[in-house]
Amino acid sequence: MKKQTRPAKIAPGASARAGGAKRRGILISFEGSEGSGKSTQIAHLAEHLQKIGRKVVSTREPGGTEIGEQVRNIIVHNSKGDEMCAETELLLFAASRAQLVREIIAPNLIKGVVVLCDRYIDSSTVYQGVARNLSLDPVQQINQFAVGNVLPDLTIVLDVPTRVSLTRINQRASDLPDRMERENIDFYKKVRDGYLVLARSLPKRFFVVDGMLPEKEIRKLIWAEVKSRIGV
Ligand code: TYD
Repeated sequence: MKKQTRPAKIAPGASARAGGAKRRGILISFEGSEGSGKSTQIAHLAEHLQKIGRKVVSTREPGGTEIGEQVRNIIVHNSKGDEMCAETELLLFAASRAQLVREIIAPNLIKGVVVLCDRYIDSSTVYQGVARNLSLDPVQQINQFAVGNVLPDLTIVLDVPTRVSLTRINQRASDLPDRMERENIDFYKKVRDGYLVLARSLPKRFFVVDGMLPEKEIRKLIWAEVKSRIGV
């Protein structure tokens, strides 16, 4: 059996940055509903950071590792997906995340890399906790079990109105909407509100950007925020 890789000593509660000498990297997560433009902004930020000489690793959830991508398939494209209960879904997302933290995120933070993650713990809080109505306590405990103290230094939420998000899902080039994308407007309203409530409750970690602004404007706002908060 492959030797187990563990993240460097993770004590509950502290952020990745607070990890001190052992964890010199920076973890930035991107959140928002489908079609909010996360992947475009991640690509721009990665380019910007590389230009100023930072090493960057971009990854995504669910997935980002071989095991995680297999888990992603079960969640998103399973033919029996409609029978999946919310608890199973929560645990599968957490399983993918646990692997990603140990295989990619923590080792890169130790090396001083900036890790950009397309979705992270807050997706579970919002999609499974708020939109699927699971009790928030177990969601938070499971998140904590999956990531330990590898918390984001900054979480950027791209906020778009629910109708815009649904229109963008339907316009995507790929053929049919996946299992998550087949949810109704009420589900996506809860997702949007869930992010905004979470961001208000954790203003030090969150930065909400209006996803309806011109793309270049969003890019500038994100760069200014990253510079001022993280000091790159
Ligand atoms: P993906 O195709 O990556 O969507 P997007 O491009 O919008 O990020 O699919 C991920 C889906 O999984 C998306 O609908 C959000 C959902 N999700 C959760 O419900 N909980 C989670 O913890 C995570 C990471 C994702």
